[in-house]
Amino acid sequence: MELHLKDKVAVVTGASKGIGLAVVGAMAREGVRVVAGSRGSTPELDALRDAFDVTVVPVDLSTPEGPEILVRRAVERHNRIDILVNNLGAAEPRSGFLEVDDTAWQRIFDLTFFSTVRTSRAALPHLLTAEGAAIVNISSINAQTPFPMVVDYSAAKAAMTNLNKSLSEEFAPRGVRVNAISPGPVRTPFWTAPGAFADATAAAAGTTAQEALDTVVPQSMGISTGRITEPHEVADLTLFLASPLAGNITGAEILIDGGQIKTL
Ligand SMILES: NC(=O)c1ccc[n+]([C@@H]2O[C@H](COP(=O)([O-])OP(=O)(O)OC[C@H]3O[C@@H](n4cnc5c(N)ncnc54)[C@H](OP(=O)(O)O)[C@@H]3O)[C@@H](O)[C@H]2O)c1
Repeated sequence: MELHLKDKVAVVTGASKGIGLAVVGAMAREGVRVVAGSRGSTPELDALRDAFDVTVVPVDLSTPEGPEILVRRAVERHNRIDILVNNLGAAEPRSGFLEVDDTAWQRIFDLTFFSTVRTSRAALPHLLTAEGAAIVNISSINAQTPFPMVVDYSAAKAAMTNLNKSLSEEFAPRGVRVNAISPGPVRTPFWTAPGAFADATAAAAGTTAQEALDTVVPQSMGISTGRITEPHEVADLTLFLASPLAGNITGAEILIDGGQIKTL
């Protein structure tokens, strides 16, 4: 399928690992010029930078000034922005609501919600002058199905999905489509990093992290396909939504969860 993305300029947040890295790779292979923001890089992102037109910007996007720095670097390098992928988001396993103090709430909202607000605010003046511009927000099924284990993250994702609709209402008439993707569990460091959700699930189930991801999570969460999602599957959907093939899709929230959410 020809996506007609060649020579577009895309900004991707949270780009060094997981879904963000998969988006950078998929876009780069389509001929997109990608500006990738994360605090550090990885050998995988460095390899993409060496092989394609990928600019790596080391930046803390949880700070008020971080998103502006990333967008400025993109405009300095390419003089325009066609696509913004608000991918950054983070959660920590919680034992419950009473554990989460103001500092923890603020940190999760800065990473997950305010990074989206600030990057969108910085990028929109440039997106508005581009032809066929698009924002793709990587939200989560937790926007619709909050879990106590990620109470703060769930609320931040609900806010993100809500913002997705407001931005679509305001900017689609002006030529910028805005859509959200809400994944269920995806095999990334979000789950697989030491002490993250695979370890927490494995400890509760008395098994290994690998077994937790391959069997316990799909079964306990009711994932109809029997498996979690792979990062490249989220990336493929992101590219489609960013492309002119999705030219009349805006304000949508598209699930990629193997049938985990059972309601219409
Ligand atoms: N994985 C899942 O199961 C899942 C499910 C639903 C939704 N999502 C959403 O999908 C998105 C991507 O998740 P993921 O699983 O790919 O995450 P991940 O594996 O944890 O990767 C997070 C990325 O964000 C970067 N990052 C972290 N803190 C940052 C900061 N302060 N400033 C700039 N970059 C920062 C990390 O790089 P550095 O450490 O180098 O900064 C890394 O590149 C998130 O919004 C997440 O909520 C994930």
